[in-house]
Amino acid sequence: MREGFVKALLEWYYSHKRDLPWRHTSDPYKIWISEIMLQQTRVQAVIQYYLAFTRELPDIRSLASCEEQKLLKLWEGLGYYNRARNLQKAACEIENRFGGHFPERIEDIRSLPGIGRYTAGAVGSIAFGLPEPAVDGNVLRVWARLTSYEENILTEKAKSAAESFVKNLLDNTSPDGCAFKPGNLNQALIELGAVVCLPAGEPKCEECPLSSVCLGYKHGTWEKLPLKIKKNSRRIEELTVLIVRCGNKTAILKRSSGGLLKGLYGFPTVEGHVSAEEAVAFVSAKGYDALHVRPLKSAVHIFSHIEWHMTGYEIRVSDFSSDGGPWHFAGFEELQNETPVASAFAPYTETINLMLGKRGKRTSL
Ligand code: ADE
Ligand code: SF4
Repeated sequence: MREGFVKALLEWYYSHKRDLPWRHTSDPYKIWISEIMLQQTRVQAVIQYYLAFTRELPDIRSLASCEEQKLLKLWEGLGYYNRARNLQKAACEIENRFGGHFPERIEDIRSLPGIGRYTAGAVGSIAFGLPEPAVDGNVLRVWARLTSYEENILTEKAKSAAESFVKNLLDNTSPDGCAFKPGNLNQALIELGAVVCLPAGEPKCEECPLSSVCLGYKHGTWEKLPLKIKKNSRRIEELTVLIVRCGNKTAILKRSSGGLLKGLYGFPTVEGHVSAEEAVAFVSAKGYDALHVRPLKSAVHIFSHIEWHMTGYEIRVSDFSSDGGPWHFAGFEELQNETPVASAFAPYTETINLMLGKRGKRTSL
């Protein structure tokens, strides 16, 4: 199956690959330049930059000694200028550490500034035929669909699994039969991701050389794959915080529902950003008689996976029964010392302190 898989993929690649200038060279320097440029920029945009750059700076030495102004000019418009600075740093290191010859061992390639696992694998395999995987976003997507990987792909675990998958193909394919070269296998996967197994919109499975072995295609899961959950993509919850006051006391409650801050004290909250009338209605429904309502400032609190976007009201009520009721009315000392309120509510705790004319210490929970 694996042999057939690689053969089908490579045959497709040889007959469908785009004619791109860096595919006409075996010079590691030029392949490296192309891979760095391609990291954050579309292929069509890279072509002109690649041609101009390699014309002006045709080798490691010219890059190492290039004036910064000129270097940045050649990079102008590509963005992410650290890429250009790292290229030059690496060129200097190649001059100093490797006698001006691009290193051929994967660990040495990896040790250069601006070169991570992907770039090292790409340059190592394309320029030197090293059996090293080059898993970029394209390959990760193709792999997730091929294997119907239904977990988040933006994790080290997924990337390592994809790399093992490709490494296994590289190590276990015999060269005969399909003109096998590691660099071509890596580029074939990249190419498939770029032109068939598309990132946006439907993949063109009918044109895909791998459709007969693709689990995503077979199970119909490709539609929701790959799953991408950004580390810092937090769910936003809107809520309205109620500072319900009677005399010098303020309503608090132990949070139970929802899980977040469970067991800690907080002020009553209402889901969503509600109007003053709705806030008063909420308080009335709990059995309190609202006398006065005043809007408070809005605030944001960031938890690891959730952001609270809060608005608030101060609502004065006429009375509260000391035999309980849904909320506990706490005085200033108690709020400070006995039932400290979760720090997510700090902007509103400060409101109370201001109302009392005190600069109370912040609770931190
Ligand atoms: N994206 C990253 N590397 C590439 C390559 N060698 N050819 C086309 N697109 C790429
Ligand atoms: Fe992607 Fe479809 Fe090919 Fe599977 S069959 S790898 S989903 S294009």
